[in-house]
Amino acid sequence: MHRVTLIPGDGIGPEITNAVKTVIDAAGVKICWDEHQVGQNALEKYGSPLPEHVIESIKANKVALKGPVTTQIGRGFKSINVTLRQTFDLYANIRPVKTLPGVNSLFKDVDIVIFRENTEDLYAGIENVIDNDRVEAVKVITRKASRRIAEAAFEYAKLNGRKKVTAIHKANIMKKADGLFLEEARKVAEEHKEVEYDELIVDNACMQLVQKPSKFDVIVTENLYGDIISDLCAGLVGGLGIVPGINKGEEYTIFEAVHGSAPDIAGKNIANPLALTLSAVEMLKHLGELEAAKSIQKAVENLLRQGRCLTPDLGGCSTTHEMTKELCNLIS
Ligand code: NAI
Repeated sequence: MHRVTLIPGDGIGPEITNAVKTVIDAAGVKICWDEHQVGQNALEKYGSPLPEHVIESIKANKVALKGPVTTQIGRGFKSINVTLRQTFDLYANIRPVKTLPGVNSLFKDVDIVIFRENTEDLYAGIENVIDNDRVEAVKVITRKASRRIAEAAFEYAKLNGRKKVTAIHKANIMKKADGLFLEEARKVAEEHKEVEYDELIVDNACMQLVQKPSKFDVIVTENLYGDIISDLCAGLVGGLGIVPGINKGEEYTIFEAVHGSAPDIAGKNIANPLALTLSAVEMLKHLGELEAAKSIQKAVENLLRQGRCLTPDLGGCSTTHEMTKELCNLIS
């Protein structure tokens, strides 16, 4: 029996985490879920949006499955997502974006894995009010973090038979910060000559991604660019409802979808649970449950291929419950 910290989150989080628990159960994997609240709910109940007992739970279990958590815009507590990534030094945010069968998408041949640096950049949370009319936000780029995200991208490329790593930056403008990031990426590329390496300025990269995404293989980039590019890439393959994510450090791993808490559809039983389901597939692989991971992945693909029981974001008119039930039926 595995023990995993479960953070349902808020918005659509509880609906989709419940769905994923049901799917994992149907695949026959026994997990003891150590379930905890964070964010606004935890603040009201425990006086902190990220209570110490949640941190202790992740420390003990080393693996967590997390639903999305709402972060207020321009006010409120610091993002729980960013805090968790920094607290557990989850430096690699890995986001595989792939065309799936049967999904109505702009492109049919997308297969990109994004390696987003997850701990620094403008997300370091250093903002200073200079005076009433001026605020500065500090962009932090370190040699260590740049090197290890580049290493993670190249190691992944080598292990998974990928051909090319593209570093995305804005070093023409941020010559020192993005310059340092590129310097480390180039050094790591030199140590992995069997994998092709190229570089693109972020604006040009966005244009090329929406014109010819098949040109891209593995992308390595900083935190902010990675955040934006991830959603852009999700749009290429049919939306946020099908893109999984992994937050990985040396010791701890938190699995979560790319999408947020989707307040516009929360509580309506129409959220697509597949992005979190595919994140859970990655979690099961991490836990050594390879057969179950494979059968859930296959069930997801068969569900999409048959085009029935899909949620509205995928062009269907089914509920989260109906989609989950069908997914469970398809697990062999
Ligand atoms: P969002 O990803 O929540 O929603 C963007 C659009 O995609 C919405 O129209 C939503 O309905 C749709 N969508 C997202 N996931 C879906 C799903 N599973 N099924 C069907 N449709 C889906 O982004 P938004 O609106 O910018 O952010 C909402 C909140 O989520 C914010 O407070 C933000 O800070 C937070 N957030 C949390 C993340 C996390 O916990 N890892 C990641 C991104 C945002």
